[in-house]
Amino acid sequence: MTPPDEPPPTVPIDTVQALHAAHMAEMNDPTMVTVAGDPVDDQPGVGGQDTVQGMHGILMREHAEPRDGFEPVPVWVMAVFGALLMWGGYYIGSGSADFRRDVNDGSDIQFSGLPVDPDNPAPDPDPKTVADLMSIGEARYRAVCIACHKAEGEGDPAQKAPPLRGSEWVVGPEASPARLARIVLYGLHQPITVAGKQHDGVMPPQGVALKDYEIAAALTYVRNSFGFKADADDANPSITPALVKAAREKVGKRAESFTEKELKAIPLDYTDLPKK
Ligand code: HEC
Repeated sequence: MTPPDEPPPTVPIDTVQALHAAHMAEMNDPTMVTVAGDPVDDQPGVGGQDTVQGMHGILMREHAEPRDGFEPVPVWVMAVFGALLMWGGYYIGSGSADFRRDVNDGSDIQFSGLPVDPDNPAPDPDPKTVADLMSIGEARYRAVCIACHKAEGEGDPAQKAPPLRGSEWVVGPEASPARLARIVLYGLHQPITVAGKQHDGVMPPQGVALKDYEIAAALTYVRNSFGFKADADDANPSITPALVKAAREKVGKRAESFTEKELKAIPLDYTDLPKK
């Protein structure tokens, strides 16, 4: 059963002006509370949060509840999205390689030459004659040694690099293949006397960058160039890849480069090669 209708509460004030007046009086009622719930202790009409302006101030602080539905996209989202779109276009454009299949899909492409097997690398060339070593050695000399020892093996005082041309370490009865292999494999520091003149430079080791056959070739080249011919028998070079390999194995890993004193301690007839 629905309860009988109760009469609406009587509104004692019935004109707009009276309503406003009552409302204004209510606004100035000192028993009003603030939004935080604290009673307002201002005196009526003195001004403060219980005045019309005060109430408006409080109401203005409040914000609308978030609404469901369509909101305009914020400008910064549009800017970020636009920038990403442009970057993506640029990225595809610059990295697509024209969408060529042979670039992008390498799985079934046949490369010429044999695949490189790290456990089974292709053997190094093994030049056997002075002529073969000379041609490889000239290229290595021009690529590496020339920077310090110069085109005609004259050396470079500015880098404290001694001459190779006519050096007793390189040609003549005092030249030792075992010493030469060590100089190029591991480098040289501390003073060294070459052709009666002392040089105090630093030759960096070449044994990491150059392979045994390349070092043998470069040494054969310097021994048979600049007007000298140390290997009279063209078929039997005195510095072979096998000799450099044997020196590398004999010395092993070594951080320090050699010194003149250490080299001189190696007898002239010493060889790293196994005696036949
Ligand atoms: C970065 C400069 C530099 C490079 C590259 C260089 N050397 Fe040297 N080399 C020197 C210096 C400096 C010395 C002297 C070191 C010392 O004073 O202890 C020297 C000494 C030598 C010596 C003994 C001294 C002499 O003059 O006879 C030989 C042999 C030699 N180098 C050969 C070579 C060969 C071969 C190459 C190339 C594979 C080479 N060097 C690359 C700087 C260099």
